[in-house]
Amino acid sequence: MTVDSDDQLAGLKRVGRAVRETLALMRGLAQPGITPLELDEIGRAKLRAFGARPAPELAYGFPGATCISVNDAIAHGVPDNRPFKAGDLVNIDVSAEIDGYWADSGASFAIGSASAEVRKLCRTTRTALQRAIGSVRAGRPLNVIAQAVCKEARRAGFRVIPELAGHGVGRSVHEAPTVSNVYDPANRQRLHEGLVITIEPFLTKGSGCIYQAQDGWTLKTSDGALAAQFEHSLVVTKGQPVILT
Ligand code: CO
Ligand code: CO
Repeated sequence: MTVDSDDQLAGLKRVGRAVRETLALMRGLAQPGITPLELDEIGRAKLRAFGARPAPELAYGFPGATCISVNDAIAHGVPDNRPFKAGDLVNIDVSAEIDGYWADSGASFAIGSASAEVRKLCRTTRTALQRAIGSVRAGRPLNVIAQAVCKEARRAGFRVIPELAGHGVGRSVHEAPTVSNVYDPANRQRLHEGLVITIEPFLTKGSGCIYQAQDGWTLKTSDGALAAQFEHSLVVTKGQPVILT
């Protein structure tokens, strides 16, 4: 969507806060022994306390309030009852709706202490998101986002997962445009003032190929390589974007 009133911005900020605080709560409680299902129920209750409805269920009939993806799973992981172990690489993706406004955010982190390589993967992916956000201005090509993400990935020796991308958001969880992490010289789209998008780099040490698991939801890396994602929802302005999540 494109924001054109203060009311709309307030609605987006409200759902953005619910998503941000739910993700922070879940992340803080993700320790060895807790199961993704337990964590998902905590997230569901937190969203409900904000008057927010979980987007994955509402928009797609997903079997969970949030997506929790472990190790070689990178997105759309179904919360299950296998307890987290120290060293697991976990991604939590929270998206929700309040009063017709939608926001989407995600983060990857290790359970307990992580190897240097996992720390580097998470740090680089978070930096790629920050650099991409820093490149966003009304009037610039949409491609600046992919350029910023790819530069950061390449610098650290990682690849982007080309099939997974950011997107427009605001009046539904997935809207146009697709916010690719792959630079496309043929793409002439530009960012405009008020445009609401997510940016979500997905980085991996592996090939970047993915497949859908037999549950019909979970996306995994084909080579079993670890992958990480960080995501924010934001509003494009003439200056620094307004981060909603
Ligand atoms: Co998301
Ligand atoms: Co998203």
